[in-house]
Amino acid sequence: MEHLMAVVLAAGEGKRMKSKNSKVVHTVCGKPLIKWVYSAVKGAGVEECVLIIGHKAEQVRECMGDHVKYAVQEEQLGTGHAVMQAVEYMQGKDGTVVVLCGDTPLVTTKTISNTIKFHRENNNAATVITAVLDNPEGYGRVVRDKHGNVLKIVEHKDANKEEKNIKEINSGMYCFKIKELIESLKEIRNNNSQGEYYLPDTLEVLIGKGLKVGAYIIEDSTEILGINDRVQLAEASEILKKRILLRNMKAGVTVIDPASTYIDEDVKIGMDTVIYPGTIIEGKTVIGEDCVIGPNSRIVSSKIGDGVAVHQSVIMQSSVDNNTSVGPFAYIRPDSIIGKNVKIGDFVEVKKSVIGDDTKISHLTYVGDAEIGKNVNLGCGVVVVNYDGKKKSKTVVENNAFIGCNVNLVSPVTVKENAYIAAGSTITEEVPENALAIARSRQVVKEEWVLKKGLHKKD
Ligand code: UD1
Ligand code: CA
Repeated sequence: MEHLMAVVLAAGEGKRMKSKNSKVVHTVCGKPLIKWVYSAVKGAGVEECVLIIGHKAEQVRECMGDHVKYAVQEEQLGTGHAVMQAVEYMQGKDGTVVVLCGDTPLVTTKTISNTIKFHRENNNAATVITAVLDNPEGYGRVVRDKHGNVLKIVEHKDANKEEKNIKEINSGMYCFKIKELIESLKEIRNNNSQGEYYLPDTLEVLIGKGLKVGAYIIEDSTEILGINDRVQLAEASEILKKRILLRNMKAGVTVIDPASTYIDEDVKIGMDTVIYPGTIIEGKTVIGEDCVIGPNSRIVSSKIGDGVAVHQSVIMQSSVDNNTSVGPFAYIRPDSIIGKNVKIGDFVEVKKSVIGDDTKISHLTYVGDAEIGKNVNLGCGVVVVNYDGKKKSKTVVENNAFIGCNVNLVSPVTVKENAYIAAGSTITEEVPENALAIARSRQVVKEEWVLKKGLHKKD
């Protein structure tokens, strides 16, 4: 099999982002720009991907880890010079290299695959992806001869008046035969208006050698949108958001109001789940089938089972099992594990706790650093007092326990199986199995007290 590799350029400074961070690690729909590009080439079957890094190289390395290989371009002397840094990885290989920029997150696997196919079928030495734009300002223009064959690409800054009128532009994405690319890179010069080594100049070199160079004209020109500033970042976000929603809807998810729904790329949602307006689902969240999510909910990197309802609530880095209901107005904080058929009602906060199956926590309750068993009832206003001002401690409530309203469970403390706790108790010691604990002062009634004090209000 012929080798298929990619070189992705990401060494530039990205000044217009006005950011402390590398341009290509900025995220759209929960995924850094560079990862969008990487996913697209990976999907096209690329076996090896080399990233050209320079500015803020460490951030890019941290983002991509060892999924890719790196070549450092110490000084940014142009796109051709950038690709030269990858020659050590291309040397001695026979096959195709796809060259892309790290700041074009909208390019799709389909376009890359189609281009590779076109490139191979035509036995081209190089194929450039081009687009026809109403406003080609700023882009390199594709110059063709009268038969329509590609002659060269002229950068906007180097173009004459006639060339500036050309509407077909260079997307900055290409396929090359590896050997031909390496050879042609040796021949490009920086005698142009920017004093840079231009990658597109390799095309003219190849044509000069009598080799075939083709152009693959893209249908959807939004795919070539490069991100240079925050405005374009938002534009890309809008387009990708739509693509993700479309994919989910086609897979059987009902989205009531796509305009106010945000779903990250890596989220997975099961069939017949309904997403209500104002909902944001982020990270690697997995949601099962037949759930009702929203309105106005946020779920981050969590696992939600089947048949779960989440109303006006926030769930962070936690799991919620089948047929459980969360909200309205609940807050599930990280590292919580909520069982099956549980009710987490209004104004309930759960933090780093395990809640067993069939347990009900219906209203106004805080559960932190606790292990609550199965079929437990936590009455209205129960507070797990997990923090003594210095350290956090753990509370355990065993299966079938019944905790009355407005109870404080002062951690560390254990309530054993089937125990009851009277409303209003502050529990500081273990409650044995099957026992009733009452930890509050007895009621005192002072007859006629109001009259004696002269506090009686007349009708
Ligand atoms: C480039 C093309 C232009 C095309 C346009 C499409 C050249 C000379 N021009 O222009 O024909 O229409 O893309 O968007 O290639 N980079 C490096 N090292 C460098 C220079 C650039 O890694 O030394 C990276 C940048 O980080 C960026 C990409 O290469 O990701 C493109 O560079 P940029 O300077 O933006 O090229 P354009 O002027 O947009
Ligand atoms: Ca650019």
